[in-house]
Amino acid sequence: MALITKAIKGTKDVLPSEVHKNQYLEATALEAAERFGYKEIRTPVFEHTELFQRGVGDTTDVVQKEMYTFDDKGGRSITLRPEGTAGAVRAYLEDGLCNETLPQKVCYLTSCYRYEKPQAGRLREFHQFGVECFGTQSPLADAEIIALAKTIFDKLELKDIRLEINSIGCPECRKKYQEALKEYFSQYRDELCDSCKDRLERNPMRLLDCKSPQDKEIAKGAPVVIDFLCEECQEHFDAVKRYLDAQNIEYTVNPTIVRGLDYYTKTVFEFISDSIGAQGTVCGGGRYDGLVKELGGQDTPSLGFAMGLERLLLLMDAQDVPVPEPNTPDIFVAALGDKATLKAVELVKDMREEGWTALLDLNQRSLRAQMKYADKLGATYNVVLGDNEVDEGITKLKNMNTGEETEIALDTFVSGFYNIALSEQLADLEINGEEFDFGSLFGLNDSEGE
Ligand code: HAM
Repeated sequence: MALITKAIKGTKDVLPSEVHKNQYLEATALEAAERFGYKEIRTPVFEHTELFQRGVGDTTDVVQKEMYTFDDKGGRSITLRPEGTAGAVRAYLEDGLCNETLPQKVCYLTSCYRYEKPQAGRLREFHQFGVECFGTQSPLADAEIIALAKTIFDKLELKDIRLEINSIGCPECRKKYQEALKEYFSQYRDELCDSCKDRLERNPMRLLDCKSPQDKEIAKGAPVVIDFLCEECQEHFDAVKRYLDAQNIEYTVNPTIVRGLDYYTKTVFEFISDSIGAQGTVCGGGRYDGLVKELGGQDTPSLGFAMGLERLLLLMDAQDVPVPEPNTPDIFVAALGDKATLKAVELVKDMREEGWTALLDLNQRSLRAQMKYADKLGATYNVVLGDNEVDEGITKLKNMNTGEETEIALDTFVSGFYNIALSEQLADLEINGEEFDFGSLFGLNDSEGE
C-alpha cells in the first residue's frame, strides 16, 4: 500500500478491537470521581500560549521545550494544551464557577500534547484523566484526592502501584530552599546544561527535574525541600499523613519529588508502577494554592491530579486485569432476494428501536457468506429470510452458541425474540454453580404433598 503519509510520531490510533479497554478505563475513572462529588468539565484543546507560560511556568521543561505552539491566522500565539490544570483554572474563573459554593470539584478526560522523545508510555499526544478541587486549604482534601486516585486503581484491580508523597512548602519555605539550591548548584555551574545555567538564576528548583543525565547526577546531592518547611506547612503535611493513615492508604515520603510544573505548593504526590518500564509514573498531582491568583482570580487554595491513560492501559495489559468483553450483536438477519431484504430492513429497525444490536449484510452477499459474516461478528442469534419465510410469515431463530432453533413469527418478531432470549438466558442461569430449577420456584416439580 502506498500511503501518502503516516500518523505523526508519538501518536497512537486506538482500534475498534481495543477501544473497549479505553472505554472501561474512562468509565471507571468517571464513575469513581462522581462518587467523590466531581463533575466533568470540557475545555478547548488549545489556549492562548500565555496561559501555560504563566500557569505551568516559563522555566519548566514543558514550557521551554515541549509545547506545540504556533501563530494562528490572526497572528495570535496558540498552544495545544500540554496538561489539563491551567485550562480548568481558566474556565473556573472565566465561566463563574468561582462564584459558586466552594469547593468546586471538576474532572476531565483530555488529550494533551508534549514534544517529548517518544518511548513506551511516553507519547506526544497522550490522554489524561484528571481532577481539580478549587477552594479548600484543608488537608482533608489532599487525602481525599489521593484516596480517589487509589479507588480508581483498586476498581481496575491494578496491583503494586506505590504512592510517594512529599511537601514542597509554600512560597515562604520555598524562598529559603531556592537559596540553598542556588548555593549547592553554583559549585557545579560549568557542568550544568545550558537550560539549567539559566534556571540557576531564575528558578533553581527546576534543576531538580532536568532530564540531562549529568544534571540528574549532580541533583542527587542537592538539599531536599522537606528540611525547609515552615511550621504551618509541616503541620499541613502531618495532617495529610494522618488522614491517609486513617484510610489505611500506604505511602512513603520521598523528599526528592518536586514535580515538573511550577504551580505546586505543599503536598505533591505520585503513584508509580515498576511493571511498565521507565515511564512508570501513572499519576501525579498535588496542591497549587497560588495558581488561581496567578491567573487573575482571588486567593483560592486548590489541588488536583492527573493520570496518564496510556500508561494505565499498559499496566492493565501487563497485569492482565479483567476487562468486560465488548458487546457483540444480539442478532444477525440474513436475507436473500429483494422481498426478504425489505423485511430484514424492517426487522432490524424494530429490533434496534427496542435496544437490541441488530445487523444485516449491507453487501448482500450469498447466504453462505452472510453466515460466515454473522459468525465473525459474534452474533448471538441469527435468522434467515428468503421469499418462503416472508410469504409464510415465519422463520427460525437460531442460537449461534448452542445451535438450538426456535420458530418465530415475523409479525410479532420483537416480542417473540424477547421471550426466546429471556427463557434461554434463564435456563442457562446457574445458582451456586448448579443449574437452577425455575420450575421448583413455583412448585411445579413438587410432587410431595399431592
Ligand atoms: P504531569 O505529571 O505532567 O501532571 O502528568 C500527569 C500524568 O500524565 C503523568 O503522571 C503521566 O502518567 C501522564 N503523562 C505525562 N506526560 C506524558 C507523556 N508524554 N506520555 C504519556 N503520558 C504522560 C500534570 O499534567 C498535572 N496537570 C497534574 C495535576 C492536576 N496536578 C494538579 N492537578
